[in-house]
Amino acid sequence: MASIGQIIFWSMIVLIFVMAGLIILLLAIAFSVSQGSVVTNKPFPVGNLGQDVILDCKFQTKTSQVSSDVSITWQKDGLTGVVYQYQNNADHLQDQNPQFKNKVKLFPDAIHTGNASLLLRTVRMEDEGVYRCSVTASGVTGTVSIHLRVGAFSAPNITRSNNSLKAYAQRWLPKPDVTWFDQNGTQLKSSTEFYSIPMGIVQVMSDLQVQVTEGTYTCIIQNALVTAVSEATVRDNEVLTRTDFIFNSSPNIVTSHVIGTAFIIFCMLVY
Ligand SMILES: *[C@@H]1O[C@H](CO)[C@@H](O)[C@H](O)[C@H]1NC(C)=O
Ligand SMILES: *[C@@H]1O[C@H](CO)[C@@H](O)[C@H](O)[C@H]1NC(C)=O
Ligand SMILES: *[C@@H]1O[C@H](CO)[C@@H](O)[C@H](O)[C@H]1NC(C)=O
Ligand SMILES: *[C@@H]1O[C@H](CO)[C@@H](O)[C@H](O)[C@H]1NC(C)=O
Repeated sequence: MASIGQIIFWSMIVLIFVMAGLIILLLAIAFSVSQGSVVTNKPFPVGNLGQDVILDCKFQTKTSQVSSDVSITWQKDGLTGVVYQYQNNADHLQDQNPQFKNKVKLFPDAIHTGNASLLLRTVRMEDEGVYRCSVTASGVTGTVSIHLRVGAFSAPNITRSNNSLKAYAQRWLPKPDVTWFDQNGTQLKSSTEFYSIPMGIVQVMSDLQVQVTEGTYTCIIQNALVTAVSEATVRDNEVLTRTDFIFNSSPNIVTSHVIGTAFIIFCMLVY
C-alpha cells in the first residue's frame, strides 16, 4: 500500500504535467488565433460615447502589391450577420446586421496598403464587445480580435478660484475618482462633486482645498477605462492646462476570463 506521502508526491507530479500540458495547449490556441499576418496595434480600444472610433486591423501580404482579391470581413461576437464585408473591390452588405447599417466603413483608399481598419461612427454603449477582423488576400489568411469598451471622458477645464484651483470636466462614465498632486508628487486635499446628466454620464467638479502658489499641479481623473492626467501650470493670474489620456490596455475581464477557462479545464481534468 502506498503511503500518504507517496500519494501526495505522485499527485504533485501528475499535477505538474497536467499544468504544463495546459499551458502548452493555451499557447497553441493563442498562436493559432493570431496566425497569419493579420494584426492589430490596438486590441483594447476605448470608445468615447457619441464620437467615432477606429477599430485597428492591418495585414501584410508576401508581395508588396495587394491585388484585387482582398476579402475583409468584420464580425461581432454574439451577433448574427456581419458588421461589414468587403470583396472584389466592393462592399457586400446583404448580410450586414441592421445595428451597423450606415454606421461603419472601411478606408477603401488605404486597403491596398494593408489597412483593414473599421471606422465605427457615433459609438453607443451597445457597441461594446469583441470584434473580429478576418482578411483573405494573396498569401494571407488570418483573424484578429479587438475588444471594444465604451465610456465617456473629456479633458477638464482648470481655473483659479479663491486662491486655489477648480477642475470642471463635462462628461465621464463610469464615474471617476479625482486626485490632485503638487509638483513633488504629494497628494493634496480636495473635494469632488458629480452631477448626473443623461445616459449615466456625470459632470465632474473638483475643488483643490489648498492655496496654490506659482508652479505646476496635477489633477488625475481616472476610471477603469481611462486616466486623464492634467498638468495645470499656475503663473500670475493665469492657469495653463495640458491633458494626456492614458487608456487601460489590460482589462481584467480578459485576463480573468483566460485564467477562469484554464481553471475550469484544469478542474475537469482533475476530476
Ligand atoms: C487606416 O487608415 C485610417 C485612415 O487613413 C487611419 O486613421 C488608420 O490609422 C489606419 N490604420 C492602420 C492600421 O494603418
Ligand atoms: C472653463 O471655465 C471657465 C470659468 O468657469 C469658463 O469661462 C470657460 O468658458 C471654460 N472653458 C471651457 C472650454 O469649458
Ligand atoms: C475661500 O477660502 C476660504 C478659506 O480657505 C474659505 O473660508 C472661503 O469660504 C472660500 N470662499 C469661497 C467663495 O469658496
Ligand atoms: C517640494 O519639496 C522641496 C524639498 O523637499 C520643498 O522645498 C518644496 O517646498 C516642496 N514644494 C511643494 C510645492 O511642496
